This record gives sequence, C-alpha cells and structure tokens, in this order.
Amino acid sequence: MNILAIESSCDETAAAVFSCPHLPLLNSSKLLSSVVVSQIDLFKAYGGVIPEVAARSHLEAILPVIDQAFSDAGFLDENSRPDWDKIDAIAVTHTPGLLGSLLIGTLTARTLAILHSKPLYPVHHLKSHIYSNWLARTPEGSFMSVQENPTSFSSPQKSPSTVPSFPLLALVISGGHTQIIKMTSPLDFQIIGTTLDDAVGECFDKVAKILGLPYPGGPSIAGAATQGNPKKYHFPHPKTPNPLDFSFSGLKTAVLRTVQKELGVAINYPSHELKNLLTRSQIADFAASFQQTAIDILLERLGLALNQNPDVASVVFAGGVSANEELRLIASKKFPTAHFPEKQFSGDNAAMVAIAAAAEISAGKLPADPLALNIFPRSDIS
Ligand code: KG4
Ligand code: ZN
Repeated sequence: MNILAIESSCDETAAAVFSCPHLPLLNSSKLLSSVVVSQIDLFKAYGGVIPEVAARSHLEAILPVIDQAFSDAGFLDENSRPDWDKIDAIAVTHTPGLLGSLLIGTLTARTLAILHSKPLYPVHHLKSHIYSNWLARTPEGSFMSVQENPTSFSSPQKSPSTVPSFPLLALVISGGHTQIIKMTSPLDFQIIGTTLDDAVGECFDKVAKILGLPYPGGPSIAGAATQGNPKKYHFPHPKTPNPLDFSFSGLKTAVLRTVQKELGVAINYPSHELKNLLTRSQIADFAASFQQTAIDILLERLGLALNQNPDVASVVFAGGVSANEELRLIASKKFPTAHFPEKQFSGDNAAMVAIAAAAEISAGKLPADPLALNIFPRSDIS
C-alpha cells in the first residue's frame, strides 16, 4: 500500500509518500518523499503565528507541495502529472491544531479522496509526533518497519537497543502540547501528565520575544544559550496538584520579572521594549538559564513518571522541542532508554502522519467518510 499523507495543523504545509508493501506487517516500509514548506519567514516579522495568515498560506502551498511529494517519490505519469494510480490511501492530520490550518489540509484530503476514489484516514497530530521515532535514516531514504510481533516496532537500521520498546513513556513537547503519555502497545495511549496552562514550546517562544530573539523561540533560545551561563539566574519550579502535570506560564512571568529587576525598571515597563536595554551577554545568560530550567522541569517530571511506572522499557521524546540539543544531551545521560526522532522529523512533517496511519491501518482501523470527516482544533490523544 502506498499512502499519501498531508499535514497542515499549524504553520508547516507538508506532504509525504510512504510505501508499505507488506500490510498488515510494516516490514520494508519506506518513505519515498517528504516535503515541508515552512511559514516561519512569514511569521518572523510578527513574532508568532497569525492563524488567518497561516490558513491562507496553506491554501497557496498545499497543491504544489502535494505535487512535489508525487514528483520526489517518482510517482508522475507520462505527462509529468501526479500518478494517482500509484496511491492506495490518503492520510491527513485532522486534530488538534489551528482551525483554519486543519481545515485546509483536511478539506484538500477529502476532496482528493472523493476525486480519486481513495480511502481516507484521519490522524491525530500527537500520535504522529510519537510515531516519528520509528523513522530511521538509511542511505536510500528514511523508513520504518514493524516486526511481526504486534507489540513491538523495529527498524532494521537501528540495533535492538536503540529501537523503542513497549511499554513506553512518551514526552510530547511541542508548541501546543506538553504531555507524558504511557503506551502499553502501539495503539494504546494514556495521558498521565499534562500542562495546566502554556505548552513548553509556547514558553520558549514567549521568552524569546521578551529577549528580542527571533521566532520561533526554541531554536533561537537554544542558539543564544550556547554563549550563556545556565546558572546565572534561578527560576522556580512549579508545584502542581498532580506531580506529573506541568505549568509553564509562571516560568515565563518569572523570566520577565527577573529581566525587569536586572535592568532596574518597574514591572509595568513595556515588555516589548526590554530587549532594547539588554546586552548580548545578558540575553545569552537569560536564554541559558531559562532553557536549563525548562529542561530540568521536563526531565524531573518524566523521572517521577518513570519511578511510578517501573514496567516501562523505553522513553520516547516527540514534538518540536525534542530537537533541542541540550535536552537531548541531558536526557540521554539521565535516561539510558531515551529515543529521539531524527532532527528533520522533530517538527511538523507529513512522514510521521503516514507512519501513524500505516500503524493504525495495520491494526485494522477503517477509513473515514470523505464526505463527512470533521476537524477538531482540540482533542486528547486516545
Ligand atoms: O511540533 P512543532 O513543530 O509544532 C507543534 O505541533 O506545535 O513544535 C513547535 C515548537 C515551537 O514552540 C518551537 O519554538 C519549538 O517547537 N522548538 C524548539 C526547538 N526547535 C523548535 N524548542 C526548543 N529547542 C529547539 N531546538
Ligand atoms: Zn507538531
């Protein structure tokens, strides 16, 4: 089965072609193409995503991106047009995400499914982030395979010790989510910790704005932090009624107050003007101290979750923040069973959507009605 996957939940328009020749087994599955067009440059000027602009930009990009995915996969007909005969199913992110952004991807997928008579499989965005951990780079491309044992995935390119095994804990850390999810088998998801307010990626983005670092905040904070002292400033760790839950809005405010104190300005001083008063070395120290605190909070809760779940065999990181080098360094020392997605699959992409769909199809999931598939801006993984 060849799957065309589409992702447009936030500010990346993406399409991928994934081949799984032995369904329901996913042995020898192969990623044939993965195209991602980012809107980052568009939103740098605003310091964040503007939903209406994102939706309009998806609308402009989505058909060219899909065409490119066909072309990169070598799926063009004699007239150099997408060869739909080679596609057996369409998968699309339909939840959670920005309403207008989800609508563009999902309506495109529905229309193409009707037009070309293909089964349509909706995919949950966080599931696809988790499944990105089974995409391994090979000399010819990236691929995933699933062993005959349905409770364990494996990739032939990775040694058994580097392949996640079940039960596992997934730390999903993105711009919209911060959750610890327990999986006892490939299709079983149980949220055991979640943020009560901001997501950690959102916190990186907001702190970057205070420090005058460009959007998206994660990579620019990580870059500035390499020149800074992570012990220069101390920020409190939040207390939550459920010790596995997170809270990041207090950390953002703590950074703001400490910057104001350091600069000797009142707390009603406009936060967007603070960046003009900060020196390069202050920015670097704030970035490093904030990043260290965010990592400590994430890993402290994950450690607690591991203690409470001694049956867990692997820890899996997923979502845009999992690209963070410092986090990877500290986490792999602290958790010997830690797994991270290939960097190119940490952020939003459609390859992970295809893998999630393939895993669900192989477990017997039935297609959705292309005339009725709805989008859900908010929904928990289940
Ligand atoms: O998964 P993702 O691409 O989109 C969502 O589903 O939200 O995650 C985007 C988030 C942004 O907040 C971005 O600042 C953060 O991931 N991010 C990082 C890094 N790269 C991206 N955060 C920390 N360090 C990074 N290197
Ligand atoms: Zn995402």
